[in-house]
Amino acid sequence: ADLYGIIGCPVGHSMSPDIHNRSFKDQKLDAVYHRFHVEKDQLGAAVNGIRALGIKGVNVTIPHKENVIAYLDHVDKTAAEMGAVNTIVNLDGVLTGYNTDGPGYLESIKPFLTSPLSEMKCLIIGAGGAARGIYTALAHAQTGRIDVANRTKEKALAIIQEYDAAVPGRTLSLEEAECHLAEYHLVIQTTSIGMSPNINDQPISLENISEGTLVSDIIYNPIKTAFIKDAEQRGCRVIPGVGMFIYQAALSFRHWTGKMPDIQLMESVVLEKLG
Ligand code: ATR
Repeated sequence: ADLYGIIGCPVGHSMSPDIHNRSFKDQKLDAVYHRFHVEKDQLGAAVNGIRALGIKGVNVTIPHKENVIAYLDHVDKTAAEMGAVNTIVNLDGVLTGYNTDGPGYLESIKPFLTSPLSEMKCLIIGAGGAARGIYTALAHAQTGRIDVANRTKEKALAIIQEYDAAVPGRTLSLEEAECHLAEYHLVIQTTSIGMSPNINDQPISLENISEGTLVSDIIYNPIKTAFIKDAEQRGCRVIPGVGMFIYQAALSFRHWTGKMPDIQLMESVVLEKLG
């Protein structure tokens, strides 16, 4: 069997093995996907292990997405721009890094869009690695405007400045974001606030949001965060985070096998586990 896996720390709760192994089976591929707990100071050794053992493909998760780049032979353009890799392809010992988080996010929201991204004003809440990936993907898709709100405003500024010339946008504090919510067509929650077990927390109040606004959260455990539930109650259209998780996995699967897996099947595996 061909070997695949995920490296991270912690990695014990990752659902990637469940969805990839189910998809390998579904596609009748002779392949197995494992979980590998890799401490920060063992990352270089782990990447050499991928080469030595001939592991064909690897997902990279927290805290290695940025640091892994130094150990790879090639990094594709989008991943380089994001400064983060979540997918490694091993082709005859040559390791190439990709990032499917941002593109996966974009795929996951496509079915919900009722106007072109070029006509949309978007607000990203948070300025960590996930926010950067989503920002980059939205910027590539010629989104009309992308503002970034964060507790630490300098981090939001660092993301926006990279695209200064190409995409209109500004930074806001979380308080400012609360006041200006009515301006946006799409609001994207990318912080860790609301993740299980802190399921009652949300990063900002949605009091000023307009009905019909598209609201998305990248957290998928719980399936519906307090933020998403609040948005729903205010008449917003909501996009729960499971879609991004599924699509980043599906795009990794495609990098490795050349085939797109069954999205519905992947989603059912996740919902079953979390349900
Ligand atoms: P990831 O790579 O998963 O996006 P991260 O880089 O740790 O994670 O980023 C976490 C994001 O959640 C940041 O935007 C962080 O805000 P700061 O940049 O100000 O640290 C935000 N965040 C986490 N806990 C928060 C809290 N209690 N209140 C406000 N923002 C929070």
